[in-house]
Amino acid sequence: MIIKNARFLKSESGVTKNYSGFGVPEIAIVGRSNVGKSSFINCLANNHKLAKTSSTPGRTRLVNYFMFNENFVIVDLPGYGYAKASKEEQKTWENMITSYFAETDNLVGIIMLVDIRHTPTENDKQMLEYLYTYNIPIVVCATKQDKIKKSEMSARTMDIAGTLKLAKESIILTSSETRYGKDKVIDKIYQLIENSKGGQNL
Ligand code: GTP
Ligand code: MG
Repeated sequence: MIIKNARFLKSESGVTKNYSGFGVPEIAIVGRSNVGKSSFINCLANNHKLAKTSSTPGRTRLVNYFMFNENFVIVDLPGYGYAKASKEEQKTWENMITSYFAETDNLVGIIMLVDIRHTPTENDKQMLEYLYTYNIPIVVCATKQDKIKKSEMSARTMDIAGTLKLAKESIILTSSETRYGKDKVIDKIYQLIENSKGGQNL
């Protein structure tokens, strides 16, 4: 699959009940604050201005929808685990994330991002456990691959896979700076969309 175009659709401060989507499959991007979700979306879109990014954690405070190729939607969710956010803010963001998953009927896959340099946190593990309850395929991608040495890649991937109880081969290493792993991610998205169509026809 080639990404021909991508455009911003809308932002929401809370996912409304009876959210009906845009009539196309959706892929949600989740991960800790500052892990690189918005940059990841921009990399896929080939447009560094599409989703707002920032070196300050907690940049994305809304649910943002982006239409790709006019046939699938990527959802940029607020990051969790931002230590400096007040309890109240953290709760609001959590509610945004959980209300999105509770309301959407169009979700065909979830991409969970973790920073390649760090062992996934308790928050990451809890989020993954929570996401499993929706029975939607989950792909884990490690971000910021450009920040580590080639010689560290295998050990970092093992650590992430081990902590999340996943197969090492299932983790896709990515960099939004160098576009490392981008083709693999796009192939995976294509598979998620195609598999969901298969499922509907059964
Ligand atoms: P929130 O919206 O706060 O949850 O953050 P986010 O997950 O959307 O992260 P964002 O894309 O805003 O990126 C956070 C910081 O990490 C920015 O300074 C990015 O430039 C940087 N960053 C993101 N991806 C990469 C990457 O692959 N490599 C490098 N070197 N930096 C990255
Ligand atoms: Mg963001």
